Amino acid sequence: MRLRNSRQQWGLVAMAFHWAIALMILGMIPLGILAANWRLSPTKLELFFWHKSFGMLILALVVLRLLWRLFNRPPALPEDMPGAERFLAGISHALLYALIIAIPLSGWVINSAANFPFKIFGLVRLPNIVDPSKAVQQLASDVHLALIITLGVLLTVHVAAALRHHWVKHNDVLSRMVPGLKPPPQARTGKVT
Ligand code: HEM
Ligand code: HEM
Repeated sequence: MRLRNSRQQWGLVAMAFHWAIALMILGMIPLGILAANWRLSPTKLELFFWHKSFGMLILALVVLRLLWRLFNRPPALPEDMPGAERFLAGISHALLYALIIAIPLSGWVINSAANFPFKIFGLVRLPNIVDPSKAVQQLASDVHLALIITLGVLLTVHVAAALRHHWVKHNDVLSRMVPGLKPPPQARTGKVT
């Protein structure tokens, strides 16, 4: 398997970014809910330590992923895909990228406004990006939650669209993103419905 994308295939690097970030985000949602609702105790601080550390790691990975994408265009969509669907795929992917940047950024604002000294994985001090303020902290916390709910809705559509490509349209859009998944037989013989 190649590192870079080709016209037909995602490369190893793009797939590794997609799945590493997807798995981390899916883990971060229960971790965030658990941390926010835990009673004040050393365990709560520890849950937040991992939540914020992985959240900042996700932010860094998304930036690297977008840089990689800038110099390495995605493979082409199936030729018979209607224009409206191509447009929706483009918009929804752009929105997903915007959300996975805005969610950790809003978390960073909560931490800054709370003026909570924090070192990512105990190694790198997280600088404050806003001045301490209870009101800003509350606002950023509401924004963090609203963005996560939006992400949940969009991800449901994203996964449904991926499954539709495989099971209904019988093309290779899902199989070329999932290592080891075979394309539907119709896609392999070129008879795509
Ligand atoms: C937190 C979870 C996820 C996030 C944030 C996410 C985000 C994204 C983004 C931004 C893209 C566009 C890639 C690009 O054009 O650079 C993409 C592509 C894709 N995703 Fe996800 N994804 C997630 C989970 C999933 C899951 C669970 C599936 C499968 C069921 C999936 C299937 C796909 C497929 C098949 C593509 C390739 C589309 C194409 O070839 O144009 N994703 N994803
Ligand atoms: C993709 C990354 C992230 C995801 C998916 C995520 C998800 C969540 C979720 C689901 C909650 C619980 C929501 C609630 O009960 O209000 C939460 C809360 C929280 N998150 Fe994140 N988070 C991410 C990144 C970050 C980062 C980078 C930070 C800080 C540097 C952070 C700081 C917080 C804080 C302080 C809370 C508690 C909010 C409150 O007290 O209302 N998060 N997060």
